[in-house]
Amino acid sequence: MSNETLQAVRGMNDILPDEAELWLWFEEEVRDWLHSYGYRNIRMPLVEPTALFKRAIGEVTDIVEKEMYSFEDALNGDHLTLRPEGTASCARAVLQHNLLYNAPQRLYYSGPMFRHERPQKGRYRQFHQVGVEALGFAGPDIDAEQILMCARLWSKLGLRDVTLQLNTLGDTASRHRHRAKLISYFEQHRDMLDADATRRLHSNPLRILDSKNPAMQELIAAAPRLADELEEDALRHFDEVQAMLRRHDVAFEINPSLVRGLDYYNRTVFEWVTASLGAQGTICAGGRYDGLVEQVGGKPAPATGFAMGVERLLALLQEDGMVLPKPEVDVYVVHQGELAGQLASKVAEQLRDDRLRVLLHCGGGSFKSQMKKADASGASVAVVIGDDEAQANEASVKPMQGGDQVRVSVQTLVATVNKLIK
Ligand code: HAM
Repeated sequence: MSNETLQAVRGMNDILPDEAELWLWFEEEVRDWLHSYGYRNIRMPLVEPTALFKRAIGEVTDIVEKEMYSFEDALNGDHLTLRPEGTASCARAVLQHNLLYNAPQRLYYSGPMFRHERPQKGRYRQFHQVGVEALGFAGPDIDAEQILMCARLWSKLGLRDVTLQLNTLGDTASRHRHRAKLISYFEQHRDMLDADATRRLHSNPLRILDSKNPAMQELIAAAPRLADELEEDALRHFDEVQAMLRRHDVAFEINPSLVRGLDYYNRTVFEWVTASLGAQGTICAGGRYDGLVEQVGGKPAPATGFAMGVERLLALLQEDGMVLPKPEVDVYVVHQGELAGQLASKVAEQLRDDRLRVLLHCGGGSFKSQMKKADASGASVAVVIGDDEAQANEASVKPMQGGDQVRVSVQTLVATVNKLIK
């Protein structure tokens, strides 16, 4: 067996304690924010049947074609996939447990997602999303509310330099008309298509519009526009979303080429982008997906949602100079001798009963070296127990910021420590 040092899988990151502090803080902020809009938590498995993502996200998308971690269960041959996103799983769960048809649902989830992309700054193979889904709502009010929610979170987190891009994809009929026109347009200019575009011509011509190939930009710019095919209902829906955003002073930019990389969207789509993170500047994205519930096997139900990329958001916060104070330790318990050790561990539990944050020294060493550790821990108070104290069922308490050491009985220790901390 080789004994070379093992590394994490490429594109999958460890989140070390200093950084995890920021994650914990962020998760708490986000939870409060979600609850203030009445969203409830749902937790789905990380692994789903591959067929779910093929059906929901679309067979001819980058995610399904080349980015999914799919495998066959060696024990029973099932075709499984590590989830590349949460919307499909959420719709599946809501259907499976019949949550939807009695009352609409406002739901959120968070956790790792997996996509086999080329790793770079802001783009990972395991990354984390907070996903927010409202199922059973048809009107433009919920689209606008979800966008407003995002705006509120950015301001709560103190994020600057985030802008909103907005578009409408219309409904099925207009998209079919547009698709047919695109196919015929690109067929007329077949000689100008690259290999990718030729492959997608009949399966997903809309994705050709996303091509970054400079040689095709002129062709793409002159292609038939979805905006010319939109029905009145979809246009009115979009107008109302915009009017609501204006009423709340949420600035946006209409971007007609915003189509999203997942096939389930219709009507409103949006992305929040920043220029501060380089190429991976989309921190949050989503939109309406009225066809998805039916596509995964349910009765039709309107829905809309979005997901933010946690790594990108935290990178932006750090870019903006965010630093968090280290978590505080209230008490460091120093002890020497067998009896003292036993009492110290009892005393530490007693202090924790009173909700204090306590580090009990482990690993022996002289009083002097233990006191150095107490100092480095940032604790406000050291509790010192030697055999002398242990025999008398007492402990010494020393304020770390200066002040006299006092010796008290174990019964009054908690009160003494609390007084010194306050
Ligand atoms: P998405 O645009 O694929 O949408 O991903 C949402 C966000 O996840 C992106 O804007 C980005 O911040 C983050 N993200 C995506 N891929 C990566 C990656 N490889 N590394 C780091 N961050 C990444 C969805 O997933 C939809 N499910 C959103 C949605 C919810 N639509 C309706 N409901």
